[in-house]
Amino acid sequence: MKAAVYTQYGSPDVIQVIDIKKPTPKPNEVLVKIKASSVTRAETMMRQGKPKFGRLFLGLLKPKNTSLGTGFSGVVEAIGSQITKFKVADEVFGEKLFSNGTNAEYICVPEDGIIEKKPNNITHEQAAPICDGFLTSYSFLKDIGNLKKGQYILVNGASGSLGTAAVQLAKVMGAKVTGVCSTKNIDLVTSLGADHVIDYKMQDFTKQGDFYDVIYDSVGKSSYRKCEKVLYNQGVFITPVLSFKVLWRSIIMPKKVKFSATGIRKQEELKGLLTELTTFFKKGKLITIIDKTYKLENIADAHKYLETGHKIGNLAIINP
Ligand SMILES: NC(=O)c1ccc[n+]([C@@H]2O[C@H](COP(=O)([O-])OP(=O)(O)OC[C@H]3O[C@@H](n4cnc5c(N)ncnc54)[C@H](OP(=O)(O)O)[C@@H]3O)[C@@H](O)[C@H]2O)c1
Repeated sequence: MKAAVYTQYGSPDVIQVIDIKKPTPKPNEVLVKIKASSVTRAETMMRQGKPKFGRLFLGLLKPKNTSLGTGFSGVVEAIGSQITKFKVADEVFGEKLFSNGTNAEYICVPEDGIIEKKPNNITHEQAAPICDGFLTSYSFLKDIGNLKKGQYILVNGASGSLGTAAVQLAKVMGAKVTGVCSTKNIDLVTSLGADHVIDYKMQDFTKQGDFYDVIYDSVGKSSYRKCEKVLYNQGVFITPVLSFKVLWRSIIMPKKVKFSATGIRKQEELKGLLTELTTFFKKGKLITIIDKTYKLENIADAHKYLETGHKIGNLAIINP
């Protein structure tokens, strides 16, 4: 089968699509024929080996795990002897954390892993990126930011993968939402349900005289320092983008500044969040925004586009 791999750190040109052995499911695994997979910021960082201290875990001189891709959606082709929840031909989606080989034609996933039956009302390309933007943003809004009905939230980077998810989720959670994006994305962010949209090219959201219970800097382009004057007393600044400043502030003022990473949460917690998200999708309350799709053999182009920092929503790899 075909799979995208990288055997050295570097630019998108280090990615190769090669033939590897099709996996066989263990007793507790399902074999999924992948119809669509995600390409996310996390994978571009792993491919680059950045930030460099990450190489302590990823491999000092070259990547230990050479496979690419985290999110997937596809069809169960075979099941192990102990499988009870899934059967052949089920449509499923989910993720294998830490870039674990979903940019490929097949993947084996444990039944108790992050995998759910795909809602019938969404396509594979819409399902594959759910565990990036939606799962991360739901974790942040619900558990890290503790967002409550009626509260005011500002989503900085409202047109990205995490941002387009966060605007919709905050509305589903009953919050009043301000989205920050550039001029070209105002209509999109409004259509996702934002009550108020600020164009970051024209206005500084910290100078509008509005206050927030939660500021979710989904793209790491602002800072607690800039935002503290527009946070209510009990307000919190949350971000999925790690920097030394964020890390330091989250240690010295843990009630005000919070960072987390999806990958460090317990699998059972992520599964619980994904089950709730699946229900929202089934009810038609959420929609995955797809900017571009690519064939597996053109995955390097997807990485190049992602690195511009201007994608809208998500990218997906589509298999025939
Ligand atoms: N902690 C975790 O568990 C976790 C999980 C997943 C992702 N992440 C991180 O989350 C971050 C966001 O990922 P993503 O995929 O959502 O990002 P992304 O899609 O690459 O973000 C691109 C979007 O950001 C907008 N943007 C660029 N500059 C901006 C600015 N100054 N102000 C407001 N918006 C701006 C762009 O809009 P314009 O084109 O209009 O500028 C574009 O639509 C990444 O750093 C990723 O590594 C963390």
